[in-house]
Amino acid sequence: MSFLSATLDRVKPSPTIAVTTKAQELKAAGRDVIGLGAGEPDFDTPENIKAAGIAAIEAGKTKYTAVDGIPELKKAICVKFKRDNGLSYEPAQVTVGTGGKQVLYNAFMATLNAGDEVVIPAPYWVSYPDMVLLAGGEPVFVEAPLETGFKITAEQLEAAITPKTKWFLFNSPSNPTGAGYSWDELKALTDVLLRHPHVWVLTDDMYEHLAYDDFKFCTPAQVEPQLIDRTLTMNGVSKAYAMTGWRIGYAAGPKALIAAIRKVQSQSTSNPCTISQWAAIEALEGTQDFIVPNNEMFVRRRDLVVSMLNDAEGIICPKPEGAFYVYPNIAGCIGKTSAAGTLISDDETFATALLEETGIAVVFGAAFGLSPNFRVSYATSDEALKEACTRIQTFCASLR
Ligand SMILES: Cc1ncc(COP(=O)(O)O)c(C=O)c1O
Repeated sequence: MSFLSATLDRVKPSPTIAVTTKAQELKAAGRDVIGLGAGEPDFDTPENIKAAGIAAIEAGKTKYTAVDGIPELKKAICVKFKRDNGLSYEPAQVTVGTGGKQVLYNAFMATLNAGDEVVIPAPYWVSYPDMVLLAGGEPVFVEAPLETGFKITAEQLEAAITPKTKWFLFNSPSNPTGAGYSWDELKALTDVLLRHPHVWVLTDDMYEHLAYDDFKFCTPAQVEPQLIDRTLTMNGVSKAYAMTGWRIGYAAGPKALIAAIRKVQSQSTSNPCTISQWAAIEALEGTQDFIVPNNEMFVRRRDLVVSMLNDAEGIICPKPEGAFYVYPNIAGCIGKTSAAGTLISDDETFATALLEETGIAVVFGAAFGLSPNFRVSYATSDEALKEACTRIQTFCASLR
Protein backbone atom coordinates (compact mmCIF):
# COMPACT_ATOMS: atom_id res chain seq x y z
CA MET A 1 0.00 0.00 0.00
CA SER A 2 1.38 3.41 -0.97
CA PHE A 3 2.03 5.94 1.78
CA LEU A 4 0.80 8.68 -0.57
CA SER A 5 -2.84 9.56 -1.09
CA ALA A 6 -4.62 7.87 -3.99
CA THR A 7 -6.10 11.28 -4.85
CA LEU A 8 -2.65 12.43 -5.89
CA ASP A 9 -2.61 9.75 -8.59
CA ARG A 10 -5.42 11.66 -10.26
CA VAL A 11 -3.37 14.82 -10.81
CA LYS A 12 -0.11 15.87 -12.45
CA PRO A 13 2.36 18.57 -11.43
CA SER A 14 2.00 21.93 -13.22
CA PRO A 15 3.61 21.64 -16.71
CA THR A 16 4.20 25.38 -16.85
CA ILE A 17 6.41 25.13 -13.76
CA ALA A 18 8.23 22.16 -15.37
CA VAL A 19 9.09 24.27 -18.45
CA THR A 20 10.34 27.15 -16.31
CA THR A 21 12.53 24.74 -14.32
CA LYS A 22 14.03 23.22 -17.49
CA ALA A 23 14.76 26.69 -18.89
CA GLN A 24 16.43 27.70 -15.60
CA GLU A 25 18.60 24.57 -15.68
CA LEU A 26 19.79 25.35 -19.21
CA LYS A 27 20.48 28.97 -18.21
CA ALA A 28 22.47 27.81 -15.17
CA ALA A 29 24.49 25.60 -17.53
CA GLY A 30 25.46 28.74 -19.47
CA ARG A 31 22.98 28.51 -22.37
CA ASP A 32 21.45 31.66 -23.88
CA VAL A 33 17.81 31.06 -22.97
CA ILE A 34 14.79 33.35 -23.51
CA GLY A 35 11.80 32.30 -21.42
CA LEU A 36 8.36 32.92 -22.90
CA GLY A 37 6.68 30.74 -20.31
CA ALA A 38 6.01 33.08 -17.39
CA GLY A 39 2.42 34.06 -16.64
CA GLU A 40 3.16 37.39 -15.03
CA PRO A 41 3.79 41.01 -16.06
CA ASP A 42 7.47 41.93 -16.46
CA PHE A 43 7.07 45.27 -14.66
CA ASP A 44 7.12 46.08 -10.97
CA THR A 45 4.12 46.56 -8.65
CA PRO A 46 3.13 50.28 -8.91
CA GLU A 47 4.75 52.56 -6.30
CA ASN A 48 1.49 53.61 -4.59
CA ILE A 49 0.63 49.95 -3.94
CA LYS A 50 4.10 49.14 -2.60
CA ALA A 51 3.85 52.19 -0.34
CA ALA A 52 0.52 50.94 1.04
CA GLY A 53 2.17 47.62 1.90
CA ILE A 54 5.07 49.37 3.64
CA ALA A 55 2.66 51.64 5.54
CA ALA A 56 0.73 48.57 6.70
CA ILE A 57 3.91 47.02 8.11
CA GLU A 58 4.87 50.26 9.83
CA ALA A 59 1.40 50.61 11.32
CA GLY A 60 1.72 47.13 12.82
CA LYS A 61 -0.91 45.58 10.56
CA THR A 62 0.99 42.33 10.72
CA LYS A 63 -1.27 40.00 12.68
CA TYR A 64 -4.02 37.50 11.84
CA THR A 65 -7.16 38.95 10.29
CA ALA A 66 -10.65 37.60 9.67
CA VAL A 67 -10.27 34.31 7.76
CA ASP A 68 -11.60 35.55 4.44
CA GLY A 69 -10.43 39.15 4.48
CA ILE A 70 -10.54 42.45 6.35
CA PRO A 71 -13.80 44.45 6.14
CA GLU A 72 -11.99 47.38 4.47
CA LEU A 73 -10.83 45.16 1.59
CA LYS A 74 -14.22 43.49 1.22
CA LYS A 75 -15.79 46.93 0.97
CA ALA A 76 -13.24 47.99 -1.69
CA ILE A 77 -14.04 44.80 -3.63
CA CYS A 78 -17.79 45.57 -3.52
CA VAL A 79 -17.08 49.08 -4.86
CA LYS A 80 -14.89 47.59 -7.61
CA PHE A 81 -17.60 45.14 -8.70
CA LYS A 82 -20.15 47.98 -8.88
CA ARG A 83 -17.79 50.39 -10.65
CA ASP A 84 -16.27 48.02 -13.21
CA ASN A 85 -18.96 45.37 -13.71
CA GLY A 86 -22.25 46.90 -12.57
CA LEU A 87 -22.62 44.07 -10.01
CA SER A 88 -24.12 44.75 -6.57
CA TYR A 89 -22.57 42.66 -3.82
CA GLU A 90 -22.39 43.23 -0.08
CA PRO A 91 -19.30 42.39 2.03
CA ALA A 92 -20.87 39.15 3.35
CA GLN A 93 -20.91 37.94 -0.26
CA VAL A 94 -17.15 38.43 -0.68
CA THR A 95 -14.24 36.09 0.04
CA VAL A 96 -10.54 36.94 -0.16
CA GLY A 97 -7.92 34.23 -0.58
CA THR A 98 -4.21 33.67 -1.15
CA GLY A 99 -4.36 34.38 -4.89
CA GLY A 100 -7.12 33.63 -7.33
CA LYS A 101 -5.80 30.09 -7.31
CA GLN A 102 -6.81 29.48 -3.69
CA VAL A 103 -10.25 30.96 -4.27
CA LEU A 104 -10.86 28.52 -7.14
CA TYR A 105 -9.49 25.62 -5.14
CA ASN A 106 -11.66 26.49 -2.13
CA ALA A 107 -14.74 26.77 -4.34
CA PHE A 108 -14.22 23.26 -5.71
CA MET A 109 -13.37 21.80 -2.28
CA ALA A 110 -16.50 23.42 -0.86
CA THR A 111 -18.89 22.15 -3.55
CA LEU A 112 -17.74 19.02 -5.37
CA ASN A 113 -18.76 15.48 -4.45
CA ALA A 114 -17.44 12.33 -6.15
CA GLY A 115 -18.62 12.24 -9.74
CA ASP A 116 -19.76 15.87 -9.92
CA GLU A 117 -18.89 17.32 -13.32
CA VAL A 118 -17.29 20.64 -14.17
CA VAL A 119 -17.55 21.81 -17.78
CA ILE A 120 -14.25 23.37 -18.86
CA PRO A 121 -13.59 24.87 -22.31
CA ALA A 122 -10.27 23.59 -23.72
CA PRO A 123 -7.67 25.00 -24.02
CA TYR A 124 -7.83 25.89 -20.34
CA TRP A 125 -5.57 27.29 -17.62
CA VAL A 126 -3.45 24.31 -16.56
CA SER A 127 -4.67 24.15 -12.98
CA TYR A 128 -8.43 23.85 -13.62
CA PRO A 129 -8.69 20.10 -14.35
CA ASP A 130 -6.29 19.10 -11.60
CA MET A 131 -8.06 21.22 -8.99
CA VAL A 132 -11.36 19.61 -9.96
CA LEU A 133 -9.77 16.15 -9.73
CA LEU A 134 -8.19 16.91 -6.34
CA ALA A 135 -11.62 17.90 -5.05
CA GLY A 136 -13.07 14.59 -6.28
CA GLY A 137 -14.90 15.98 -9.32
CA GLU A 138 -14.69 15.14 -13.01
CA PRO A 139 -13.59 17.69 -15.61
CA VAL A 140 -15.65 17.61 -18.82
CA PHE A 141 -13.84 19.31 -21.68
CA VAL A 142 -15.44 21.26 -24.50
CA GLU A 143 -13.09 21.97 -27.40
CA ALA A 144 -12.63 25.62 -28.34
CA PRO A 145 -10.67 25.33 -31.60
CA LEU A 146 -8.72 27.86 -33.68
CA GLU A 147 -11.58 28.02 -36.20
CA THR A 148 -13.96 29.58 -33.65
CA GLY A 149 -11.33 31.93 -32.24
CA PHE A 150 -10.69 29.52 -29.33
CA LYS A 151 -14.24 30.06 -28.05
CA ILE A 152 -17.00 27.51 -27.48
CA THR A 153 -20.50 27.82 -28.92
CA ALA A 154 -23.88 27.64 -27.21
CA GLU A 155 -24.55 24.29 -28.91
CA GLN A 156 -21.35 22.83 -27.50
CA LEU A 157 -22.18 24.01 -23.99
CA GLU A 158 -25.70 22.60 -24.25
CA ALA A 159 -24.32 19.22 -25.34
CA ALA A 160 -21.80 19.08 -22.48
CA ILE A 161 -24.32 19.62 -19.68
CA THR A 162 -25.61 16.49 -17.90
CA PRO A 163 -27.61 15.99 -14.69
CA LYS A 164 -24.23 15.65 -12.93
CA THR A 165 -22.92 19.07 -14.07
CA LYS A 166 -22.24 21.29 -11.07
CA TRP A 167 -20.18 24.13 -12.54
CA PHE A 168 -19.49 25.76 -15.86
CA LEU A 169 -16.00 27.24 -15.60
CA PHE A 170 -15.59 30.35 -17.74
CA ASN A 171 -12.41 32.36 -18.39
CA SER A 172 -12.29 35.44 -20.62
CA PRO A 173 -9.83 36.82 -21.66
CA SER A 174 -8.32 33.39 -21.53
CA ASN A 175 -5.08 31.89 -20.38
CA PRO A 176 -3.63 30.37 -22.64
CA THR A 177 -5.22 31.84 -25.80
CA GLY A 178 -6.00 35.48 -24.90
CA ALA A 179 -9.45 34.93 -26.47
CA GLY A 180 -12.18 37.18 -25.11
CA TYR A 181 -15.94 36.60 -25.44
CA SER A 182 -17.99 39.58 -26.65
CA TRP A 183 -21.25 40.45 -24.88
CA ASP A 184 -23.28 38.62 -27.56
CA GLU A 185 -21.06 35.55 -27.51
CA LEU A 186 -21.34 35.35 -23.73
CA LYS A 187 -25.11 36.00 -23.84
CA ALA A 188 -25.48 32.94 -26.10
CA LEU A 189 -23.80 30.87 -23.35
CA THR A 190 -25.78 32.40 -20.47
CA ASP A 191 -29.01 31.70 -22.41
CA VAL A 192 -28.08 28.01 -22.32
CA LEU A 193 -27.38 28.21 -18.58
CA LEU A 194 -30.81 29.75 -17.94
CA ARG A 195 -32.31 26.51 -19.24
CA HIS A 196 -30.26 24.44 -16.75
CA PRO A 197 -30.94 25.78 -13.26
CA HIS A 198 -28.81 23.12 -11.54
CA VAL A 199 -25.61 24.43 -13.20
CA TRP A 200 -23.59 27.13 -11.43
CA VAL A 201 -21.12 29.48 -13.12
CA LEU A 202 -17.57 29.98 -11.89
CA THR A 203 -16.11 32.86 -13.87
CA ASP A 204 -12.37 33.54 -13.69
CA ASP A 205 -12.05 37.23 -14.57
CA MET A 206 -8.35 37.46 -13.75
CA TYR A 207 -7.49 39.19 -17.07
CA GLU A 208 -10.39 41.67 -16.99
CA HIS A 209 -8.21 44.76 -17.33
CA LEU A 210 -5.98 43.28 -20.04
CA ALA A 211 -8.44 43.91 -22.88
CA TYR A 212 -7.33 45.42 -26.18
CA ASP A 213 -8.55 47.27 -29.27
CA ASP A 214 -12.36 47.36 -29.40
CA PHE A 215 -12.81 44.37 -27.10
CA LYS A 216 -14.99 45.18 -24.10
CA PHE A 217 -14.71 42.86 -21.11
CA CYS A 218 -17.96 41.47 -19.70
CA THR A 219 -18.75 38.89 -17.02
CA PRO A 220 -21.63 36.34 -16.86
CA ALA A 221 -23.68 37.86 -13.99
CA GLN A 222 -23.52 41.24 -15.75
CA VAL A 223 -24.64 39.85 -19.11
CA GLU A 224 -27.41 37.76 -17.51
CA PRO A 225 -28.44 39.18 -14.11
CA GLN A 226 -30.78 36.20 -13.54
CA LEU A 227 -27.66 34.08 -13.00
CA ILE A 228 -26.39 36.15 -10.05
CA ASP A 229 -27.72 33.66 -7.47
CA ARG A 230 -25.68 30.83 -8.94
CA THR A 231 -22.53 32.62 -10.06
CA LEU A 232 -19.18 32.91 -8.32
CA THR A 233 -17.39 35.89 -9.85
CA MET A 234 -13.66 35.45 -9.24
CA ASN A 235 -10.97 38.05 -9.83
CA GLY A 236 -7.70 39.22 -8.31
CA VAL A 237 -4.95 41.79 -8.27
CA SER A 238 -2.16 39.54 -9.58
CA LYS A 239 -2.18 40.35 -13.28
CA ALA A 240 -3.53 43.89 -13.78
CA TYR A 241 -1.54 45.36 -10.87
CA ALA A 242 1.62 43.24 -11.30
CA MET A 243 1.06 41.74 -7.84
CA THR A 244 1.58 38.02 -8.50
CA GLY A 245 3.83 37.61 -5.46
CA TRP A 246 1.50 39.40 -3.04
CA ARG A 247 -1.02 36.53 -3.37
CA ILE A 248 -4.42 38.18 -3.22
CA GLY A 249 -7.45 36.91 -5.13
CA TYR A 250 -11.13 37.33 -4.36
CA ALA A 251 -14.62 36.31 -5.39
CA ALA A 252 -18.22 37.29 -4.79
CA GLY A 253 -21.29 35.09 -4.81
CA PRO A 254 -24.23 33.84 -2.77
CA LYS A 255 -23.68 34.08 1.02
CA ALA A 256 -24.04 30.34 1.71
CA LEU A 257 -21.34 29.52 -0.85
CA ILE A 258 -19.05 32.23 0.56
CA ALA A 259 -19.56 30.77 4.07
CA ALA A 260 -18.67 27.29 2.78
CA ILE A 261 -15.50 28.66 1.15
CA ARG A 262 -14.63 30.39 4.44
CA LYS A 263 -14.97 27.04 6.26
CA VAL A 264 -12.44 25.41 3.88
CA GLN A 265 -10.03 28.32 4.24
CA SER A 266 -10.41 28.42 8.05
CA GLN A 267 -9.09 24.86 8.27
CA SER A 268 -6.24 25.33 5.78
CA THR A 269 -4.42 28.66 5.39
CA SER A 270 -6.59 31.08 7.43
CA ASN A 271 -6.35 34.68 6.25
CA PRO A 272 -4.39 35.78 3.20
CA CYS A 273 -1.29 37.86 4.03
CA THR A 274 -2.41 40.84 6.10
CA ILE A 275 0.08 43.27 4.53
CA SER A 276 -0.98 42.22 1.03
CA GLN A 277 -4.62 42.80 1.90
CA TRP A 278 -3.88 46.44 2.77
CA ALA A 279 -1.86 46.83 -0.44
CA ALA A 280 -4.75 45.32 -2.43
CA ILE A 281 -7.09 48.04 -1.09
CA GLU A 282 -4.77 50.63 -2.64
CA ALA A 283 -4.67 48.64 -5.89
CA LEU A 284 -8.47 48.69 -6.14
CA GLU A 285 -9.11 52.19 -4.75
CA GLY A 286 -5.98 54.05 -5.88
CA THR A 287 -5.18 55.43 -9.31
CA GLN A 288 -5.90 53.11 -12.22
CA ASP A 289 -3.91 55.38 -14.54
CA PHE A 290 -1.15 52.91 -15.35
CA ILE A 291 -3.57 50.39 -16.89
CA VAL A 292 -3.94 52.30 -20.18
CA PRO A 293 -0.18 52.78 -20.89
CA ASN A 294 0.51 49.19 -19.81
CA ASN A 295 -2.12 47.93 -22.21
CA GLU A 296 -0.67 50.06 -25.03
CA MET A 297 2.65 48.34 -24.41
CA PHE A 298 1.00 44.90 -24.40
CA VAL A 299 -0.83 45.67 -27.66
CA ARG A 300 2.48 46.65 -29.30
CA ARG A 301 4.10 43.42 -28.11
CA ARG A 302 1.11 41.29 -29.11
CA ASP A 303 1.14 42.76 -32.62
CA LEU A 304 4.89 42.20 -32.93
CA VAL A 305 4.65 38.56 -31.84
CA VAL A 306 1.55 37.77 -33.93
CA SER A 307 3.12 39.25 -37.05
CA MET A 308 6.52 37.54 -36.59
CA LEU A 309 4.99 34.14 -35.75
CA ASN A 310 2.67 34.28 -38.76
CA ASP A 311 5.81 34.78 -40.86
CA ALA A 312 7.25 31.52 -39.48
CA GLU A 313 6.78 28.49 -41.75
CA GLY A 314 4.06 26.11 -40.56
CA ILE A 315 2.67 28.45 -37.87
CA ILE A 316 -0.74 30.14 -37.76
CA CYS A 317 -1.09 32.70 -34.98
CA PRO A 318 -4.48 34.39 -34.41
CA LYS A 319 -4.56 37.87 -32.84
CA PRO A 320 -6.23 37.62 -29.42
CA GLU A 321 -8.49 40.14 -27.65
CA GLY A 322 -6.69 40.24 -24.30
CA ALA A 323 -4.39 38.80 -21.60
CA PHE A 324 -0.68 38.55 -22.51
CA TYR A 325 -0.60 35.25 -24.36
CA VAL A 326 -0.80 34.00 -27.93
CA TYR A 327 -1.52 30.39 -28.78
CA PRO A 328 -0.12 29.63 -32.26
CA ASN A 329 -1.09 26.49 -34.13
CA ILE A 330 1.82 24.38 -35.44
CA ALA A 331 -0.02 21.79 -37.55
CA GLY A 332 2.31 22.76 -40.44
CA CYS A 333 5.38 21.63 -38.45
CA ILE A 334 4.14 18.22 -37.32
CA GLY A 335 5.79 15.24 -39.00
CA LYS A 336 8.93 17.20 -39.91
CA THR A 337 12.43 16.70 -38.50
CA SER A 338 14.57 19.37 -36.83
CA ALA A 339 18.16 20.22 -37.82
CA ALA A 340 19.39 18.18 -34.83
CA GLY A 341 17.37 15.18 -36.00
CA THR A 342 14.33 15.32 -33.69
CA LEU A 343 11.06 14.15 -35.25
CA ILE A 344 8.40 16.75 -34.41
CA SER A 345 5.60 14.28 -33.67
CA ASP A 346 3.52 16.56 -31.42
CA ASP A 347 3.64 19.95 -29.70
CA GLU A 348 5.63 18.59 -26.75
CA THR A 349 8.48 17.40 -29.02
CA PHE A 350 8.27 20.76 -30.83
CA ALA A 351 8.68 22.70 -27.55
CA THR A 352 11.49 20.43 -26.32
CA ALA A 353 13.43 20.67 -29.60
CA LEU A 354 12.85 24.44 -29.73
CA LEU A 355 14.28 24.84 -26.23
CA GLU A 356 17.23 22.50 -26.75
CA GLU A 357 18.17 23.73 -30.22
CA THR A 358 17.42 27.48 -29.99
CA GLY A 359 17.10 28.28 -26.26
CA ILE A 360 13.47 29.50 -26.56
CA ALA A 361 11.21 28.25 -23.77
CA VAL A 362 7.49 28.01 -24.58
CA VAL A 363 4.78 25.80 -23.06
CA PHE A 364 3.42 23.02 -25.29
CA GLY A 365 -0.29 22.99 -26.09
CA ALA A 366 -1.09 19.53 -24.69
CA ALA A 367 -0.56 21.04 -21.22
CA PHE A 368 -3.58 23.26 -21.88
CA GLY A 369 -5.71 20.59 -23.55
CA LEU A 370 -5.58 21.67 -27.22
CA SER A 371 -2.94 20.56 -29.72
CA PRO A 372 -0.87 21.07 -31.80
CA ASN A 373 -0.11 24.50 -30.36
CA PHE A 374 2.18 26.28 -27.98
CA ARG A 375 1.70 29.20 -25.63
CA VAL A 376 3.82 32.32 -25.74
CA SER A 377 3.67 34.83 -22.90
CA TYR A 378 4.60 38.22 -24.38
CA ALA A 379 4.99 39.84 -20.96
CA THR A 380 8.67 40.42 -21.65
CA SER A 381 10.80 43.07 -23.38
CA ASP A 382 10.39 43.95 -27.09
CA GLU A 383 14.03 43.03 -27.68
CA ALA A 384 13.63 39.59 -26.10
CA LEU A 385 10.43 39.01 -28.07
CA LYS A 386 12.06 40.00 -31.39
CA GLU A 387 15.03 37.75 -30.76
CA ALA A 388 12.80 34.87 -29.63
CA CYS A 389 10.49 35.13 -32.65
CA THR A 390 13.49 35.35 -35.01
CA ARG A 391 14.87 32.12 -33.50
CA ILE A 392 11.44 30.46 -33.82
CA GLN A 393 11.32 31.53 -37.51
CA THR A 394 14.81 30.08 -38.10
CA PHE A 395 13.87 26.86 -36.29
CA CYS A 396 10.68 26.43 -38.36
CA ALA A 397 12.52 27.21 -41.61
CA SER A 398 15.07 24.49 -40.78
CA LEU A 399 12.45 21.74 -40.36
CA ARG A 400 12.57 19.14 -43.11
C1 LIG B 1 -6.66 32.21 -15.74
C2 LIG B 1 -5.96 32.30 -14.44
N1 LIG B 1 -6.66 32.18 -13.32
C3 LIG B 1 -6.09 32.25 -12.11
C4 LIG B 1 -4.73 32.44 -11.99
C5 LIG B 1 -4.13 32.47 -10.61
O1 LIG B 1 -3.90 33.74 -10.16
P1 LIG B 1 -3.17 34.02 -8.77
O2 LIG B 1 -1.74 34.25 -9.09
O3 LIG B 1 -3.85 35.24 -8.22
O4 LIG B 1 -3.37 32.83 -7.90
C6 LIG B 1 -3.94 32.56 -13.13
C7 LIG B 1 -2.48 32.70 -13.02
O5 LIG B 1 -1.73 32.38 -13.89
C8 LIG B 1 -4.58 32.50 -14.38
O6 LIG B 1 -3.88 32.60 -15.51
